[in-house]
Amino acid sequence: MEFSIRSGSPEKQRSACVVVGVFEPRKLSVPAEVIDNAGRGYLGDLVRRGDMEGKLGSTLLLHNVPGTLADRVLLVGLGKEKEFREKEFRTAVATAVKTLNETGGFDGTLYLTELLVKKRDVAWRVRQATMVALEALYRFDKLKSKKDDVRRPLRKLTFCVERRNELTMAEDALAQGQAIAAGTTLMKDLANLPGNVCTPSYLADQARDMAGEHGMAVEVLERQDMEKLGMHTLLSVARGSHEPPKFIVLTYSGGKAGHKPIVLVGKGITFDTGGISLKPGPEMDEMKFDMSGAASVLGTMKAIAQMKLPLNVIAAIPSTENMPGGGATKPGDVITSMSGQTVEILNTDAEGRLILCDALTYVERFDPECVVDVATLTGACVIALGHVATGLLANNDTLARELLEAGQEAHDRAWQMPLWEDYQEQLQSNFADMANIGGRAAGTITAASFLSRFTKKYDWAHLDIAGTAYRSGKEKGSTGRPVPLLTHFLLARAAAAAKQ
Ligand code: BES
Ligand code: MN
Ligand code: ZN
Repeated sequence: MEFSIRSGSPEKQRSACVVVGVFEPRKLSVPAEVIDNAGRGYLGDLVRRGDMEGKLGSTLLLHNVPGTLADRVLLVGLGKEKEFREKEFRTAVATAVKTLNETGGFDGTLYLTELLVKKRDVAWRVRQATMVALEALYRFDKLKSKKDDVRRPLRKLTFCVERRNELTMAEDALAQGQAIAAGTTLMKDLANLPGNVCTPSYLADQARDMAGEHGMAVEVLERQDMEKLGMHTLLSVARGSHEPPKFIVLTYSGGKAGHKPIVLVGKGITFDTGGISLKPGPEMDEMKFDMSGAASVLGTMKAIAQMKLPLNVIAAIPSTENMPGGGATKPGDVITSMSGQTVEILNTDAEGRLILCDALTYVERFDPECVVDVATLTGACVIALGHVATGLLANNDTLARELLEAGQEAHDRAWQMPLWEDYQEQLQSNFADMANIGGRAAGTITAASFLSRFTKKYDWAHLDIAGTAYRSGKEKGSTGRPVPLLTHFLLARAAAAAKQ
C-alpha cells in the first residue's frame, strides 16, 4: 500500500473516494460540512432524511456528490462526539479502510485524521491511522491453494491534515506508522505459520534474512554451543524433540559505539505440547503461537531498523519445541541452569521460564542498559487480564512506567503486577534451589518471580503476552502485539537519548 499526506479542502480532491465522518446523531464533522456547503446541502439533506445516523462503524457510500471532484464520498459513522476517543478513532479508520478495499476505487483520501482525539496530536492520529489501516488490510492466505479472489484495486491511501505546517510532522508519523506496521505484519506472518513450518531453524533463517536486509549482525548458537555454555535448562526442554534447538542473537547497532544496548528477549517455543506433562487436546493447535514473544522481538527489530532509530538493540531468542519423547525431561528431574542455580522440574509444561532463564543469564555479557523479555508465559495471565492488557512485571519501577506509557501511546496496553519477595517462597523445592512452578495461586507472578532470580545484574521487565498475542475462535490469528508497545518504548528511548 502506498501512503501520502496532504492538506487541502475535501471537495477539491481528485480521488476515487473521499472519506469524511458523521457524528451521532446526524451531525456532520467539519470536513463533511465543507462538502455539504460545496454541494448546497446535499450531505445535510441525506443525513436529515435518516440515511446516516452516525453510529460508530456504520458507512454510506455516495457517488457523484454535487460540488466535489471525487468519484465517491464515503460517510463513516463516528458515534457521539463527546465519546469520540482513541478506540472510536481506530474503529472509524478501520471501517473506512475495509470499506474502501471492497469498493472499486484505486485510492482513498481520508479526512478522519483531522478529527480531534482527546490528548492526542496530529502525529499520533496519523501514526495510529497508518497502523490501523494496514492492520485492517492484513490477510494470511499464504497456505491456501486458492487465494481470496475478490478484486482489490485499493492501492493508495492519503491522510489529510488541517494545516500546511502540520505536513512535516504528519509525514514523520506516517513513516513511523509504516515501520511499526511492517514489524507487526512480520510478527503476524511468523506466528500464524504452523509448527511444522515455523521451526527453530525457520526462525533462525528469518533472523539471518533480516540481518542481511537491514545490515544487522546475527549469530545462531547450535546445540553444542549451548552445551558448552551450560544452558541446560534450555536444553532440557529440547530433549523430547527431533527439531534442533537454536539460540538466535540479532544485533542492531544504530546508536553510538560504546553505548549500552537495550536487550529484548523473546520466548521461541515453536510448539508447546506440554512435554511429558502433556496438555489436553482441545485448542492445542494454538500452542503454535507459543513463539509469539520471539516473533514480536523480530518484528520490533524490523520496525526500528526501518526507522533507523539511533539506538543499540540486541534481540536474544531461545527457540525449541516442547515435545514428549523417550529422551524428554521428566517431572522431578533436577537441572542445572547456565547461572549455576539448580531447578526441580515439577511440570514440563512450565517450559517457557526454563528457556528464558538461560537466555537472561546469557545476555549479562552485553552489559545491557536494560532487558525486556516477552513471552506467552502463563495461562494465569489470561485469567487475570483477559485479552485486553499484557501483564507487566519488573525489578525497576522507572522501566515499568516507561513500558506502561509506551503501551498507552501505542494503544497496545499493559498492566503492572507486583513482584514482591513474598511470592518467592512458592518456588521452594526440597531437592533443588527452586521448583519451576509455584502452585495455582498467582501463576503469572510466580513465573516472573522465577525469572527474577536470573535478572539480578540489570534493570529488567517482563511482558506476559499469553492473553494478547493471538486471538482464538473464528478470528483465530496473531494480533501483532506487543510490537507497537515495544516500538513506542524504543522510540521514546531514542528521543530521550537525542536530548542528552
Ligand atoms: N505456553 C504456555 C502458556 C499459555 C497458556 C499461553 C495458554 C497461552 C495460552 C506455557 O508454557 C504453559 O504451559 N504454562 C503453564 C504453566 C503451569 C504449568 C505452571 C500454564 O500456564 O498452565
Ligand atoms: Mn507450556
Ligand atoms: Zn509455553
